[in-house]
This record gives sequence, structure tokens and C-alpha cells, in this order.
Amino acid sequence: MQLINTKKELKAYLSSQGKTKTIGLVPTMGALHLGHISLVKKSVEENDLTLVSIFVNPTQFNNKEDLEKYPSTLEADITLLKAVTDKIVVFAPTASEIYSGEVTSNTYDFEGLENVMEGEFRKGHFDGVGTIVEKLLRLISPTRAYFGEKDFQQFRIIKKLVEIANLPIEIIGCPIVREANGLAMSSRNERLDKELRQEAAFIYKTLRAAKHKFGTKSANFVLDWVKKQFNAHPKLKLEYFKIADVDQLKPVVRKNKKLKYRGFIAVYAADVRLIDNIAL
Ligand code: PAF
Repeated sequence: MQLINTKKELKAYLSSQGKTKTIGLVPTMGALHLGHISLVKKSVEENDLTLVSIFVNPTQFNNKEDLEKYPSTLEADITLLKAVTDKIVVFAPTASEIYSGEVTSNTYDFEGLENVMEGEFRKGHFDGVGTIVEKLLRLISPTRAYFGEKDFQQFRIIKKLVEIANLPIEIIGCPIVREANGLAMSSRNERLDKELRQEAAFIYKTLRAAKHKFGTKSANFVLDWVKKQFNAHPKLKLEYFKIADVDQLKPVVRKNKKLKYRGFIAVYAADVRLIDNIAL
């Protein structure tokens, strides 16, 4: 296991590997869980080299408290990665190292993908994500980069980013990994107490029921039904539930048989914001 903290060391390492090796990049903000590990395993299977970046990117947090409370567990992360294989390279820069100067975002036009759902409720979030991911992709030039579908909108936006920037990198989305009770794995789950972590299983349970209803009922019926379920829930607060097509992420008006849809949800459990989604 090699731990690299600077861009200079990283460049030296990459050039020592020659140009012919395939490189898989798994960008993360640390606090690794089995969802991340599934991305790492896929990358290890598909590439000669796997690089995991660990960096809590300040420019993608619209909420200061969320950034301050974001778990940081580098030692535990390294132990988890070592259990996959000792050959992984970890790149864990500081903010001044990776941003070299002002820690600010670029402004992107992702053709509207950035304006809905997470983009609507977390202003500037996708500019921050785009900025850090573009930096990492340009620095490392991986063959493939891996993203979890829990952040499905992020995955679509990164695909758009490489298309717009014309970067020859394959962006691979990997299925959501869930806890035994169905809750989507997330670093933020660590901030839930035992009781809320059980209560939060309601999110996926409701998504599954919504999927079932979407088979026979209208989109509006399902949207209302999900809202009612959360209105009646004493512990969880719905921020949004949207049904959108998987390509353009346009909210559904009337179902179109030619399009594939997903249901997207953001929920507060106390002050912890959780997101999830399901193919409908
Ligand atoms: O999904 C995440 O953890 C982050 O948004 C990412 C892609 C690592 C960028 O900071």
C-alpha cells in the first residue's frame, strides 16, 4: 500500500509505471464503507493499477456544518483498502495541495443535469464536484473512473463532464450497496444513532413500494403517495422525492414508454441528510 500526499509524488509514481498500464481511479471523500469497497474491487479486477483518492472536498459542501461533521478516518480507510489488496495506491492531498491557491469552484454547464434535485437543494454542489473530479482526472489520466449509483445524478454529471472536456476516460457506475435493513451505505450513516439508523430503513422500503406502484399508477399518484408516507413518519423529514428519466434527469410529466425512470429521494434523519434512488 502506497500513500501519496503531493501532486509531485503522484506524477513521479505514475511516470515510473510507464504508459501502457491501465489505471482505475476511485475518487472518494474517505470514511470508506462497503459501497466504496465494491468500486475498489471492480477497479482492481478491471485495471493494472488502482488509485483511490481520499479528499474531503470543501467546495462541494453548501452547508458548513455538514463539512465540519464529515467523518475523517484515514487509518481505518487504509486498513479496509489493504484487506482488498496491498497493491492499491492512496492519494490523500490537502486542500492547498490539490487546489494550489484559492479553494474555489469552476462554473459548469452540464446541460441542465445540474439544476434539478441535488443541484436545486444544494446550490453550487455540482460545480464543486465537477471542479475536484476534473482536477483528479486531469492529474491522473485514468483509463476508467468508478462512481457509486447512490449518487446517480453525480454519476450522470461526471459522464457529461468527460464528454464536454473531451477526456478519453470511461466513467463506470456501480450498483448501490445496502446495509442489511436496506439503508443505502453512506459515510453519513455513521452520524445516525442506533435507533435512527433502523428508522432510516423506511427510505428504501418506501422506494421499493413506490417502484411497485409505478407499474400501475400514474407518476403523480406515486409522487403524492411517497409524500404522504413521509408526512406521517415521526422521525424522517422528506426534502424531495422526484421521478426523472435516467438520461436527461428531467422530472416526469407523463410516463413515456421509451424512457427509463428512476425515483430520487433526499430525507433528513435529525440533522443528517440522506439520499437514495431506485430504478422504476
Ligand atoms: O461521491 C463522492 O464521494 C464525492 O462527491 C467525490 C466524487 C469523491 C468528489 O469529491
